[in-house]
Amino acid sequence: MLAASSNRQPLWRCLISLFCLIQCIAAYQTLSEDTLKLLPQPGNDFDIHEGNLLAPILRTRVPGSAGSAAVLNHFNDFFKTSLPDWTIELQNSTSKTPVTGKKEVPFVNFIAYRDPPWASKGDVGRLTLVAHYDSKLHPEGFIGAIDSAAPCAMIMHAMRSIDAALTRKWNDMEAQGNLDSGLEAYTGIQVFFLDGEEAFNTWTDSDSLYGARSLAETWERTPHSSMSIFKTPLSSITLFVLLDLLGSKNPTIQSYFPTTHWAYQSLAELESRLRAVKQFKSSPNYEGGKEVNEPQWLVDAKTSEHSLKPWTAIQDDHIPFLRRGVDILHIIDTPGRASFPTVWHTIKDDGEHLDIATVEDWGMLMTAFAAEWMELEGYFGEPHSTEKLSSRKTEL
Ligand SMILES: *[C@@H]1O[C@H](CO)[C@@H](O)[C@H](O)[C@H]1NC(C)=O
Repeated sequence: MLAASSNRQPLWRCLISLFCLIQCIAAYQTLSEDTLKLLPQPGNDFDIHEGNLLAPILRTRVPGSAGSAAVLNHFNDFFKTSLPDWTIELQNSTSKTPVTGKKEVPFVNFIAYRDPPWASKGDVGRLTLVAHYDSKLHPEGFIGAIDSAAPCAMIMHAMRSIDAALTRKWNDMEAQGNLDSGLEAYTGIQVFFLDGEEAFNTWTDSDSLYGARSLAETWERTPHSSMSIFKTPLSSITLFVLLDLLGSKNPTIQSYFPTTHWAYQSLAELESRLRAVKQFKSSPNYEGGKEVNEPQWLVDAKTSEHSLKPWTAIQDDHIPFLRRGVDILHIIDTPGRASFPTVWHTIKDDGEHLDIATVEDWGMLMTAFAAEWMELEGYFGEPHSTEKLSSRKTEL
């Protein structure tokens, strides 16, 4: 029996589903030079003592500890206060660990997302920005500034920086009744701050990635409502952008996955363009410095997707998602393509050892990337011209 005709879905839904079967990527729109210059500056977001975003994360935050709870509160306060249109969810699990015996340690993943207001949950594909917020148990007093307090703060900065533009864009689309235009109307954005990335003892498959493993497993078996475009919240992740070990000077960022190399190259292009418009504080040419060759953090910018030869298969929070077919962009510093930054897993990985200009530049770069992904050209700075026009029309 052929039952297809009773399944009445509007044409656009069929088209989106079909499109997703072929190649599920979001649309992607380059920002103009003027817009790159208009992106919000970090201000004191990344001040290690008084900064609104980073300073509260620069403390020990071992899973289940008071420090961990305080950092979770900080995330919660930030989204509630600065990003009230976002939805917050916690995904909890517990696990024994090699050093805690029979005790179940709690792991709390912090999730926040913002979808187009007209779209139902299962129809939205989300750009997903990820960092882990837990700190390592040893050495005692370990802060983990690059690992990953600074990456968490970079993501917070980027999301706050695009939020008003996103509101303007979505208001505009609604005002114009322009909601059936395809993927653009069904693109959302999401943040994961994951718990329990670090091993308690030495890294093994079971002593590491506690939060990421639990989230990937749980979401894989949580179905969306039956007519949804995306079957589960896991499949709603259109790109999983993992930031780790960022905040040291002159990072080396390799490209690991041919399937997402196009996104890596878009990010590399933004790096070059932000340098060219002098929006990169760590750049040798910032503020009219001498014209010298700019470095390139994203060292595989010109490499073809067929000839990528990354250092090694790095174990990190993307692994449980990668294994389930999620597209990954892994942004991790590997000096000389063959090591981690010198402060890595030492007591020196603290606020004082961050290169703040570099941290700020990462904030700008991730802002620009998210803005291109969400197609926010024309929505930064002064209200968009068509918005002005439409409000003028209403007055008439
Ligand atoms: C998850 O854990 C947090 C922190 O312990 C707690 O506040 C919250 O109520 C828990 N959420 C759920 C859904 O169990």
